[in-house]
Amino acid sequence: MTRSARIIAGIVAVVLIAAVAAAFAIVWRPAFATIDPPAPQTFDAALVKKGRDLAAIGNCNDCHTVRGGRNFAGGLPVPTPFGTIFSSNITPEPETGIGRWSEAAFQRAMRSGVNREGQHLYPTFPYDHFTNVSDEDDRALYAFLMTRQPVRAPARENQLSFPFNQRFAIAGWKLLFLRHDTHQPDPKQSAEWNRGAYLVEGLAHCGACHTPRNALGAERNSAQFAGGDVDNWHAYALNDQSHSPVPWTADALFAYLRDGFHPDHGTARGPMAEVVSNLSSVPSSDVRAIAVYMAGVSGTPAADRKGQGEMALAQGKTAAQANAAGASIYAAACASCHESGRPLPYGGINLGRSTAISSPDPRNLANIVLSGVRAVEGERSPIMPGFAVSMNDEQATALLNYLRARFSNQPAWTGVDKTVQDARRAQTVFLQTSPGPRNAPADPMQRDKP
Ligand code: HEC
Ligand code: HEC
Ligand code: HEC
Repeated sequence: MTRSARIIAGIVAVVLIAAVAAAFAIVWRPAFATIDPPAPQTFDAALVKKGRDLAAIGNCNDCHTVRGGRNFAGGLPVPTPFGTIFSSNITPEPETGIGRWSEAAFQRAMRSGVNREGQHLYPTFPYDHFTNVSDEDDRALYAFLMTRQPVRAPARENQLSFPFNQRFAIAGWKLLFLRHDTHQPDPKQSAEWNRGAYLVEGLAHCGACHTPRNALGAERNSAQFAGGDVDNWHAYALNDQSHSPVPWTADALFAYLRDGFHPDHGTARGPMAEVVSNLSSVPSSDVRAIAVYMAGVSGTPAADRKGQGEMALAQGKTAAQANAAGASIYAAACASCHESGRPLPYGGINLGRSTAISSPDPRNLANIVLSGVRAVEGERSPIMPGFAVSMNDEQATALLNYLRARFSNQPAWTGVDKTVQDARRAQTVFLQTSPGPRNAPADPMQRDKP
């Protein structure tokens, strides 16, 4: 080898070693030592109770419990554009759960998405929000989980293709998208607003559903709360691009999030019903704080939006002439509940006020028409029958197109026939996973899903 060739070879070797070391530093995380599962009575009861409320705000039960399965035992398939990821068993069972995890290991999982063994976790587990959770709140969550019933339930294998099935690849994702700037309070805002910001951006991870994602599945920060997708539902825009015909206020948000209903906005359904079910069981001051913060996010609506629904009523005649089939289905099957001023549980809101109809995405309306709104045992909660059996695809399509023309001043949807077919297919899954508008009168965090 000549001298210059030796120098070049030397430089190449140094660069390679540096690159490998850098990659190793990015990817490699140490394992935390196992501990003997702590006895439940070693945890302070007040801390456990606090952890319970925080877990409800964080929706841990919704992702970590399968219908018909045991609480927090995991195994729920979470569909992503890259394949299916199964949630983990987070009961304190020593072999298949987190019984041998120290509090430090748990906190690292919440903050950095790394499991006890040092492997990277998929961001389907919304740790990109949980980075904001305080030490104190992580401690309470740990105390709550470690005092649950241990359940033996081995992990289910994820269904991902190469390279997404390689956990080290997640390290690259984190480098690009995971921010560790834990939430800073804004001294110019009230304590309530700041509490709301801490919860919404952190534990409650509202943006995980309501913010659109980029091609690599990360939330697009430039479009925060501009509307996202979750299981064949559209999580509506909540910022100034909201399509709600009646603008949201802090009071309306509070009622919707806490009681699951507001006369100007109707009721929460699908994945949002589970969020509301959990929020109905936590201190109302926290729900109020979330509402106050979110009212700021939705900002001041454009002047022409208010009253859009009422204005749309004037379009009744033209819409009916253009789509007689849709108009007669609406008159026969829907108007008796939605235009009669009937009280709950059967009185639905005037559809001119429904975001489902003014939204650019018809999926939620198709889901609601086919599946209805299920009653909650022992409560005067809203009830609407599903029309999946009594209406064929053609009729449902005519109805949806009619509702759009009659009750909104937005342009017609395209491809509604396909949306209806997809909703019918997804309905089977939806009925298996959705607990209805409110989970149950009993404490949703203490119950196995029925
Ligand atoms: C949107 C669904 C979702 C929510 C909400 C969610 N998780 Fe998870 N979680 C997952 C998935 C999926 C995994 C598995 C990730 C993987 O295998 O890489 C996971 C993994 C975990 C792990 C790692 C367990 C292990 O054995 O590696 C912990 C701990 C955890 N979650 C705790 C929580 C807590 C506490 C909450 C509530 C504050 C919560 N999760 C909310 C979906 C969720
Ligand atoms: C698991 C996904 C998910 C999470 C997490 C979530 N949402 Fe939603 N949200 C949805 C979906 C889906 C809808 C549409 C439901 C419907 O059509 O009834 C919705 C609807 C809403 C609406 C009604 C908007 C309108 O114009 O009608 C509000 C308000 C709302 N969500 C606020 C929140 C807040 C605040 C949080 C956090 C505390 C949150 N959401 C967390 C999925 C989610
Ligand atoms: C037995 C009474 C009843 C019938 C019949 C009925 N609904 Fe409903 N509907 C309700 C109730 C109650 C709700 C929940 C409260 C609310 O959100 O309006 C609801 C909710 C809705 C919503 C969600 C509104 C929102 O944004 O909150 C839509 C859209 C809807 N219904 C459409 C229809 C259509 C279309 C038909 C006819 C095919 C129909 N409903 C038939 C009672 C009924």
